Amino acid sequence: MIIYAGKDYYDVSRKAANIMSAQIIMKPRTVLGLATGSTPVGMYRQLIEWYEKGDLDFSQVTTVNLDEYKGLSGNNNQSYRYFMNTNLFDHINIDKSRTYVPNGLEEDSRKACEDYNKIIRSVGGIDMQLLGIGGNGHIGFNEPGEAFEKETHCVDLTESTIKANARFFASMDEVPKQAYTMGIKNIMSAKKILLIAAGSAKADALYKSLYGPITPNVPASILQLHQDVTVVADEESLSLIREKGLL
Ligand code: GLP
Repeated sequence: MIIYAGKDYYDVSRKAANIMSAQIIMKPRTVLGLATGSTPVGMYRQLIEWYEKGDLDFSQVTTVNLDEYKGLSGNNNQSYRYFMNTNLFDHINIDKSRTYVPNGLEEDSRKACEDYNKIIRSVGGIDMQLLGIGGNGHIGFNEPGEAFEKETHCVDLTESTIKANARFFASMDEVPKQAYTMGIKNIMSAKKILLIAAGSAKADALYKSLYGPITPNVPASILQLHQDVTVVADEESLSLIREKGLL
């Protein structure tokens, strides 16, 4: 595992964008696993800037996103499809028919999940998976639990996640209660993993994930078993790891 410390959020975004750019340049037909949340926004902005300068070409890139709310259409401005379009895809030369997000409008959960697993297989697996991390160590929508869920599955969002997400919706009632998310096996099957984190709210999760016991109570801790993980994190999120003298 390689850990790059960034001075601040801007530095983390640039370093992460450099790593993803290298992947695209070295393998133009690459399959990227992408993530939503506030953390990757700066990285996406940087990639757009480099695309505009002519340094990056997304024309042969395929993407698969980690998760999507069940019940939201891609036109809903709270859906993860909408997030990806507005934060990245609308601004680069990617072929949108090769950008995949679980189908939030599929009511049959089993079908939605099977379809998504098939998509991941049909694109030949993920070359580089980008991950943010939840304050409780969740990745995608794999929340802490008793077991690692393997492939794409439907999750009942925890009360705390629903509350945390409520700020983006007009009222609590509008916040989806379920989501489709890639499972741990999907994520761990990626050839490379790029985990990004920023802010003191992630310090505990980062310490437990990178140095604590491997347990489904801290879903990101499974990454310790992956062969090729790069972490890019700012000093605030690394503070507990520094305090323990581990870095
Ligand atoms: C959500 C997403 C995750 C993301 C996490 C942290 O739960 N499903 O993929 O990593 O939030 O988000 P943020 O980057 O906004 O802290």
